[in-house]
Amino acid sequence: MAKSLRERMMGRTLGADIFPTASDDGAKGPIADSPKVSSMKDGASGMFGPRKEATESLSAVEQLKHSIHRKLIERLDLEALERVTDERLIAAQIRQAVAELLRDESTPLSQAEREELVDQVVYEVIGLGPIEPLFRDPTVSDIFVNGPREIFVERKGKIHRVKATFRNDAHLLAVLDRIVSRVGRRVDESSPMVDARLPDGSRVNAIIPPLAIDGAVVSIRRFGANLGPEKLVEFGAMTADMLTLLRACVKARLNVLVSGGTGSGKTTLLNALSSFIPSAERVVTIEDAAELRLQQEHVVRLETRPPNAEGRGEVTMRDLVKNALRMRPDRIIVGEVRGAEAMDMLQAMNTGHEGSLTTVHANTPYDAIGRLQTMILLGGTNLPDRAMREQISSALDLVVQASRLSDGTRRVTSITEVCGNDGDGVKIQELYRFRRDGVAEDGRVIGEHEPMGIVPHFMDRLKMAGLELPPSLFGA
Ligand SMILES: Nc1ncnc2c1ncn2[C@@H]1O[C@H](COP(=O)(O)OP(=O)(O)O)[C@@H](O)[C@H]1O
Ligand SMILES: [Mg+2]
Repeated sequence: MAKSLRERMMGRTLGADIFPTASDDGAKGPIADSPKVSSMKDGASGMFGPRKEATESLSAVEQLKHSIHRKLIERLDLEALERVTDERLIAAQIRQAVAELLRDESTPLSQAEREELVDQVVYEVIGLGPIEPLFRDPTVSDIFVNGPREIFVERKGKIHRVKATFRNDAHLLAVLDRIVSRVGRRVDESSPMVDARLPDGSRVNAIIPPLAIDGAVVSIRRFGANLGPEKLVEFGAMTADMLTLLRACVKARLNVLVSGGTGSGKTTLLNALSSFIPSAERVVTIEDAAELRLQQEHVVRLETRPPNAEGRGEVTMRDLVKNALRMRPDRIIVGEVRGAEAMDMLQAMNTGHEGSLTTVHANTPYDAIGRLQTMILLGGTNLPDRAMREQISSALDLVVQASRLSDGTRRVTSITEVCGNDGDGVKIQELYRFRRDGVAEDGRVIGEHEPMGIVPHFMDRLKMAGLELPPSLFGA
């Protein structure tokens, strides 16, 4: 059931009060809880900049925020606003009302403080409260909320604690409820765990008490909008030469498997690679939770569906791959192969859908191929070993290995050609690697990308596609 704007604004649907009373504030409320307050004063949380006054004035501002929030609910014509579907219009109306209410307040505020307060009340009323600024910060890749008092973010591979906090458990739950109800999910005692994709492509997982012992835990993986291929080179994930090679391989319709551990940057790489697909081609993407953002015009996006509460209605990756084959795609992109769909994907790569891309969870290119074999076996195909290796080696052309190094940086640690199949197994050869030389005192990993001096077998195919590369690109 959709929530009314009044419910959303008041956060009352969870049966708790997100406005702490005076006694809450004094005795156990987060505002007056001294250690946090002193850290909040100097403002990275966007509280009020370097405000020098002590706890009282801070909570005075907090009080002001609450009082404006409350007055706002009395004042706004919620029924009329309810009919406005454009969130931006609602935000504009609220912004104006807050500004007017502030004018009547006696608390002296500078222009900057006033603007910040307006922002905060708006975030509070229709946004995500204290985590909204983090959401708007393009350098933040992940947001972790461990109960109301602890919020961490990841920037450039490093996790930092931020000073923002929620007021209390109810406040956190109200914001969480707002996040998930936007995408038609709910989180409460009967469904204490939820996994959802937000409209901007970010993914969120939440688990609430009593399963999470110290308060609701929310993990948000932002959609990495700013990591296109050029950015990956700029950030040192690969060299310009490696990118040139990958671009040529995608354009020439080689089949590419991206391999890596969790959070190693597989999806980011897949997105970057897919940007090289010519826009005239018909592409079908298949994912568990749509994270791919293809720029091409002609893209069909499919998403799997988990079974419902009665265990029915599941649509698997395999179902979707099979269906995709009937949709006359030029290429198929599978977000991540995990099971039986591996076989179907390889078959697709072998039969007219060259240039398909996917990822797999593995730590080396060698392991990636082993994982594919395991998936095919577990998928119940009665293929003899030899035929299976045949299938893999003729389908795959390239494995791109992504890794998250010990210093938090993500790098392409190997680009490996799959060059055939002899009696013993699938033959691979490395074209590029990241050579690790050591670790600096500050923990930074020292090393560099280098070509292995080997010209790949697929050079002919690049040539035929008019994408000739100089042997020097491979260090040969
Ligand atoms: N080269 C990179 N440099 C910095 N951050 C990166 C890089 N590649 C990926 N990331 C970030 O790392 C996180 C995990 O990346 P993702 O591609 O989702 O990993 P995976 O699919 O392997 O789990 C994302 O927040 C993403 O924006
Ligand atoms: Mg991924």
